[in-house]
Amino acid sequence: MILTSTQHNIHLAAATIAASKIIGLPTETVYGLAADANCPNAIAKIYCAKNRPNNHPLIVHLAPQADITIWAKQIPNYAYQLMKAFWPGACTVVLPRTQYVGDFITGHQDTVALRCPSHPVAQQLLTLCYQSSIYGIAAPSANQFGRVSPTTAQHVYDEFKHLDNELLILDGGACEVGIESTIIDCTQATPRILRYGLITVADITRITGLAVASDRTGMSSKPRVSGSLMAHYAPKTPIRLCTVDIVDTLNPRTVLMGRAPTTALATHYQAMPNDAIHYAQQLYATLRHLDTMGYDEIIVESMPNTDEWAGIIDRLTRAAATFLV
Ligand code: TXA
Ligand code: MG
Repeated sequence: MILTSTQHNIHLAAATIAASKIIGLPTETVYGLAADANCPNAIAKIYCAKNRPNNHPLIVHLAPQADITIWAKQIPNYAYQLMKAFWPGACTVVLPRTQYVGDFITGHQDTVALRCPSHPVAQQLLTLCYQSSIYGIAAPSANQFGRVSPTTAQHVYDEFKHLDNELLILDGGACEVGIESTIIDCTQATPRILRYGLITVADITRITGLAVASDRTGMSSKPRVSGSLMAHYAPKTPIRLCTVDIVDTLNPRTVLMGRAPTTALATHYQAMPNDAIHYAQQLYATLRHLDTMGYDEIIVESMPNTDEWAGIIDRLTRAAATFLV
């Protein structure tokens, strides 16, 4: 059930987490499916509800006042710089884990992913949990494995209809960022981007003064970052990225997601913003909407191959890869 984020309902959500159950939680990036990060039973419920392979590690979300050294050790100076600059916010750091961290969170890896979200509802919930000695909340995006992430409470409800009315979902409005956090591996001498997002290579270099290792080809298929599987983030309708000059060849059952208002096209047209920030905000809701329209195919106008579009290009390329044979 979807609940407005009143004080009463946030307390109810905290009590639900304390009872080893899962909830739908708004964050500024996407909605998460949240549970006590130190409770194997609760975490098993997340994997089961999402149908997620259990070697795909989860991000642990921390309250603003949390002590990171409970979870991570050997924290390099540049990781502290990143946390100081980007927390609370859309930045996840991967660090060597402490003994406290269960294998059931990390998929048996020796690292842990940590993030402090800025959404006020997430912050309140994390603080309440922290006060009752729940020091972190694991929350993957609240979607079925491989599918489009949710950016509204209704999206979460739609993804978990099979849980009937049992799942408590806190409504925190539409997500401000719209795509998942940037994941930065902080286990080496210099930072490495594992997943692109709002925080860019240039942002990381500006804060740390370090060169950033990254893999813009996005072809990694290692399961360390499930979002790095080549096929991911996919709507049900086949999707492909193209330059707009192929438009004449499109069939009438195709929709074009373009970045300029236009009337000259024979096909259905879905206008998207021409800047990466607003495009990201609308991306997943638009894909979900187009999925309900019965089109044969979604064609996405390709975007500039620049740092600020990297997160969007990454998600759309992986969505499209789902339909390649
Ligand atoms: O914005 C976000 O990060 C959202 C919100 C809910 O916080 N969460 C999210 O979680 O996107 P999820 O599970 O959908 O994606 C988290 C990614 C996964 O691809 C996972 O493999 C990766 O983080 N990850 C988690 N722990 C890791 C680790 N120790 N090393 C490398 N990657 C890790
Ligand atoms: Mg996800």
